[in-house]
Amino acid sequence: MEALRNSGLIILICFVTSVLMAQDEMGKSIIPGEIWLDETGNRINAHGGCVIFHNGLYYWYGEEKVKGLSEKEHADGGIHCYASNNLVDWHDQGMVLHLSREDTLSDLSFDCNQDRPKVVYNATTKKFVLFFKLYLRNKGTSVAYVGVAVSDSPVGPFTYSHKFLGGNSPNGTGDFAMYKDESGILYHLTVRKPDKAFVIGKMRDDYLLPDGKYEVCEGITNHTEAPAVFKREGIYHMLASGSTGWEPNPARNFTSENLAGPWIYQGNPCEGVNPYNGLGKEKTYGGQSSFIITVVGKKDAFIACFDINNPEHPYDSKYIWLPIEFNQIKMSITWLDSWDLEVFQE
Ligand code: DGJ
Repeated sequence: MEALRNSGLIILICFVTSVLMAQDEMGKSIIPGEIWLDETGNRINAHGGCVIFHNGLYYWYGEEKVKGLSEKEHADGGIHCYASNNLVDWHDQGMVLHLSREDTLSDLSFDCNQDRPKVVYNATTKKFVLFFKLYLRNKGTSVAYVGVAVSDSPVGPFTYSHKFLGGNSPNGTGDFAMYKDESGILYHLTVRKPDKAFVIGKMRDDYLLPDGKYEVCEGITNHTEAPAVFKREGIYHMLASGSTGWEPNPARNFTSENLAGPWIYQGNPCEGVNPYNGLGKEKTYGGQSSFIITVVGKKDAFIACFDINNPEHPYDSKYIWLPIEFNQIKMSITWLDSWDLEVFQE
């Protein structure tokens, strides 16, 4: 009887251990389209964002969406930050910039629209500079500013500094990417309003304002949105979308030897189907690009990040992160139900 009880106990211990090990392994996987939780079990709330690497840690910045509000009801609450050492386990660093519920005269009043935050570290000024697309309250969407906030620390707080109209246009610019080259020069790549041409401008050395003129990026299809840019083996790659509001459309991919172009259209890099909504490459799995993460310490390791926009319930919007593969200069992105960083070579 005693022996039977002992063997039962051993089987139970083995079972519990194997379940815990499996859970631990599962915890290390990236599961596109699933609900993602932070280390305390709360839903990760960082949409349209970016991920930077600084002093050994990754920082994820995104739009905080207020639970219960639709996009029409001004769901943006400010910018939320998370930190991780492995791109899988995310620790909440809190809000690094708030929209104001009290001060309706502020540029950052709650009923403005604060989109697509991108943070860049300036090694000369030692400041973290946060950029976002800004539609002012009650002013519609014909004019879009770039909002700029600054911090001494990657985890904020960021102080709102000013806004500017990009593209040398009185209507400003819309979706954008910030690309920092090897020598620390920062470029603003963006869709100009109102003509929807895709343009590039150099930023000042302090990154706070454009340096001067913008030029049209030859070869980028008019009204390309949601751009994400990275460089691999001397070639610039851009992942982007078309323009259909919050609705998904096919992804676009361009390559170039120069940031200003000529860019060459390389087609839609997506393959496979998102099993949660049945959408494939024709709708970018239901997503829209937000950023490309460069994985540190691995070769050719780039992650394409998309948001599944959900304008009625933006708090419930989910994320799609997938590894990018290359065939010479052409990228491809294939849907994976679950994956981990082992897909990349050391
Ligand atoms: C498309 C943009 O890419 C999104 O970030 C958002 O601004 C929507 N348009 C709003 O319609």
